[in-house]
Parts: sequence; C-alpha cells; structure tokens
Amino acid sequence: MEFSHRPVLFRETIESLAIRPDGIYIDGTAGGGGHSRAIAEKLTTGRLLAIDQDPDAIRVLKERLGEYPCVRFAQRNFAEMGEAAAEQDISGADGILLDIGVSSFQVDNPERGFSFHHDAPLDMRMSKEGVSARDLVNTMTWQELAGILSRYGEEKYAKSIAQGIVRAREKAPVETTLQLAEIVKASVPAKACREGHPARKTFQALRIQVNGELDRLSEGLDAAFSLLKPGGRLAVITFHSLEDRIVKRRMADWCTGCICPPDFPVCVCGRKPQAELLYRKGVAPSEREVEENPRSRSARLRVCVKL
Ligand SMILES: C[S@@+](CC[C@H](N)C(=O)[O-])C[C@H]1O[C@@H](n2cnc3c(N)ncnc32)[C@H](O)[C@@H]1O
Ligand SMILES: [Zn+2]
Repeated sequence: MEFSHRPVLFRETIESLAIRPDGIYIDGTAGGGGHSRAIAEKLTTGRLLAIDQDPDAIRVLKERLGEYPCVRFAQRNFAEMGEAAAEQDISGADGILLDIGVSSFQVDNPERGFSFHHDAPLDMRMSKEGVSARDLVNTMTWQELAGILSRYGEEKYAKSIAQGIVRAREKAPVETTLQLAEIVKASVPAKACREGHPARKTFQALRIQVNGELDRLSEGLDAAFSLLKPGGRLAVITFHSLEDRIVKRRMADWCTGCICPPDFPVCVCGRKPQAELLYRKGVAPSEREVEENPRSRSARLRVCVKL
C-alpha cells in the first residue's frame, strides 16, 4: 500500500521553523516524511532526527529519506525525545516539530483497525505494541468505557454505547471495527446518525486511550522544550480541541512572566517568561486547504520561540 500523507498547514509550519542550513532539527512525528523532507532539503551541515513510534512509518521513512545523509531515524515515542536525541549525540535543537495524531496511512490501512469504514481487527496501536482497542472493549467495565468515551470523544451517548458494548460482548467478544461500529449505531438514537458517522467519536476516544495520546503529548511538549536551544522554535499541529487545549496552556505557561499581584511595588516571584508565542491565536488552515483536504478542518498550528 502506498504510504501517502498530505501534510496539513505545510507551508506555514516549515516557514515558522525558520530553518537554518546548519541547524539541528527534530521531527517527533515524521510519519510519511512530508515535513521531514522539506526540512532535510534546507540543511547543509545541519542535522534532522526523524522520530515516529510506528515501525511501519520508520521503515518507509528510511526508504524515502535515505538519500539525505543529514537525516537520522528513531522508532520511539516522542515523549522519549531526550533519550533519542542523546543516542545521536544531540544535546540541543534549533527547531522541533510535532504533527500530532494519526497519519492517513494509518487510518487508510484497514489492517491497523483505526477506521470504521473498513472491517479489520480492532487494533489502533500506533506502535503496534501494548494494549489494543480490542482488549479495552472486551475487558473494561461499562463505567470505565463510558468515562473514556465522554472524556476523549466528548460523546453525548457514552453511557448507552458503553452499555451496548458490554451487552454485545456477553454473547461474543467484540473483535472487529465494523462489529464495534454496528454496536454504536444500534446504541444511539436514529437522529445521531444524521450528524456524520455515529461511531466517529467512539473510535477517536478509544484511539486516544489506546495510545495514551494526551499524556504523551504533555510529556512530549516538556521533552521538546527542554531540548530547545535559546532562540529555538517549537511548532505543534493538533487536530482536535482536547489536544489544542494542552498545547495552548503549556505554551501560555512558558510565556508567563511575573505573577505577583499588580499592587506589589517590586517583583518577589522572580518569574521570567521562558518563551514567546509566534502567533497569538495559532494558525488555522485556509478555506482553500479545508476545501482540498477536509481532514485539515480542525487543525491548528501553535509555535513558540524559547528565550
Ligand atoms: C499526522 S502524522 C505526521 C505526518 C508527517 N508530518 C508527514 O509530513 O508525513 C502523525 C505521525 O505521528 C506518529 N505519532 C503520533 N503520536 C506519536 C508519539 N507519541 N510518538 C511518536 N510518534 C507518534 C504517528 O505514528 C504518525 O505517523
Ligand atoms: Zn513577580
């Protein structure tokens, strides 16, 4: 299968990194290599570390970017970026990119079990290791499942879907994507089926839980920020509001200076801002990009510069 991924906010992201030909860069979510290639093309004596937790992505990246001697590869979680960098003798970076979420390759490859459009084993593990979505739906209590669906899917019908899953698995284990999609469909009112596919939120929620996506994002942001050199830039693209909120808050925290009450004559907290935002509200895709690639609809790019 062709490993295609149309990078979102592509030009904006690459420009915002202000790539220097002799700089050190880390792509924490190298995926199909779209952004990584654009970075590698701008380097002369610089280096790029391309990280992805998906072994299939790393295999394809090595084929695609093998012609660039400046690129190194690591199959790792980006939360472990510090260790991956140390292994390559990298102690600081001029730019780091996180393009969060799944690649089109992962979603479009039925075997990976991310999609409710194709029947496949219910897997959803980006790293192909650890607990799968199938394990979750067959072992968690309905209360645990409902919690995940409402927290990570913002699913209105979390309780009735979770109870539907538990009822179904009493007859037979839930093994496949379409089996789950049918259970969801049967558990929600007919009107929910008119607002897009009724299983979309359930699949999103399970995927986030299976991959620990929000925790890894928090850890990855901290790992990235501590690797940045002064003047270095961190660019993060997210695809839904749960992720964007984490990025927005963390960056705001880095950018916050003195927090003394305004009536204090002098600062006693000693807090100085550690970073500056490049765009106050982040960057959303243009109307044209959304039209050409509907998957970009909810994307947002946030960039900060370390002081
Ligand atoms: C949206 S795609 C990135 C596409 C890439 N920017 C390109 O131009 O082709 C996200 C990629 O990040 C990887 N990924 C997601 N979370 C990760 C994590 N915590 N650690 C490492 N890789 C991760 C996924 O496996 C996927 O390949
Ligand atoms: Zn202060």
